[in-house]
Amino acid sequence: MDKDPWLERWLPQLRKVAHVLELGCDTGRDTAWLAGHGFSVVATDISTEALAACATAAPSAERLHHDLRDPLPFADSSFGAVIASLCLHYFDWATTVAAVSEIRRCLEPSGLLLCRVNSERDYLHGAGQGEEIEPGFYRQHGHYADTKRFFSAVDLDRLFEGWREVSRKELTIERYVKPKVAWELALVKPGDPP
Ligand SMILES: C[S@@+](CC[C@H](N)C(=O)[O-])C[C@H]1O[C@@H](n2cnc3c(N)ncnc32)[C@H](O)[C@@H]1O
Repeated sequence: MDKDPWLERWLPQLRKVAHVLELGCDTGRDTAWLAGHGFSVVATDISTEALAACATAAPSAERLHHDLRDPLPFADSSFGAVIASLCLHYFDWATTVAAVSEIRRCLEPSGLLLCRVNSERDYLHGAGQGEEIEPGFYRQHGHYADTKRFFSAVDLDRLFEGWREVSRKELTIERYVKPKVAWELALVKPGDPP
């Protein structure tokens, strides 16, 4: 049984969408769920090994090597939904803001962003540990990156200013061996469809 079926509750909203972009797909756990539910998915990651595993997990998904610190290689309004699970918390503040701005650009008006990031209370996964480079942003030699951000509620207010927040929850999730405290947000890009 999947102990972290987080996308299940968003299925009704996702069903309204034609094209989904999944950022930081890793080995394709969520990609496989999306593909299995019939979505047209583009899945991106910085790791070529992860993308190879994703190809096995979700053969029908399109895969793309992409660094989230760079602009997204898609036209404006290309996707009805963007999924960014546990991949937007590795960057300094300016880079994080730029990545969110790129997501917003690539979403259709009224498009949906489903996002999960580390909470400042994620103590079992390093919150508050290591050299603090910026408030909430630490140097840590982790599995995925050498830096890690742990978000407060105020950080999220700042990062998603101008978006319509549909849902925000701070949850303990069971994706890894140790429980993880993460924020889960659903946000809508403002603006009516033309
Ligand atoms: C904690 S995993 C999350 C994977 C998956 N989305 C999930 O929720 O299980 C973080 C992912 O972000 C990717 N990642 C780390 N830095 C990245 C970057 N600069 N650009 C794109 N992906 C990055 C990693 O390769 C890894 O696949």
